[in-house]
Amino acid sequence: MSTDSSLSVVGICGSLRKGSYNQFLLQAASKHMPTGMQLEMLAIHDFPLFNQDILDIGIPAPVKRCQDQIAKAHAVLICSPEYNYSISGVLKNAIDWISRMKNQPLEGKPLGILGATPGHYGTVRAQMALRQVCVATRMIPMNSPEILVTEADQKFDAAGHLIDEDTVSRLTKFLASFASFITTIQGRR
Ligand code: FNR
Repeated sequence: MSTDSSLSVVGICGSLRKGSYNQFLLQAASKHMPTGMQLEMLAIHDFPLFNQDILDIGIPAPVKRCQDQIAKAHAVLICSPEYNYSISGVLKNAIDWISRMKNQPLEGKPLGILGATPGHYGTVRAQMALRQVCVATRMIPMNSPEILVTEADQKFDAAGHLIDEDTVSRLTKFLASFASFITTIQGRR
């Protein structure tokens, strides 16, 4: 972990699709982060489906790579779609893998939660489900403010840029709060 005043954040997107609103939202977050905060994305697309038999043979390279990235970072930022009122299976699979690593990198990590949907509830149910996962993994989620992006199909342009000014403003405030939250949590260690 770096010791200067910079804040390193690793981002996980719960959607693998090209044109993902959640991927676009993470890109917008990277753009609107306060000075000193940097986002590095984790690649979870090549994680196998969790299977203890695979782990018994050895940690898959993509999982090891993400474990190391998380261990070095000050915090985690997760942006997930809501699938059937919960987080995506892709995200849950990634968390399940990482949670089985020795020297648990998620434990005690400050977590920021984002989500976007074309629907009207802004991934609120998925975000609550992710908070439940934090109990088991001992991540420390920021409770407020929340970012619930509704009607995402109207808030990004064709190139994936966040064009809704109110959402940009709320995201910028969210990230400033997240920086303070990370500093507070890390300062307690
Ligand atoms: C969805 N979608 C969805 N949306 C929502 O607001 N609540 C939900 O419970 C669900 N459930 C759901 C299940 C499954 C299997 C799929 C494929 C989709 C719609 C979802 O929000 C939409 O597809 C988003 O565009 C997915 O996020 P990305 O890929 O744009 O980041």
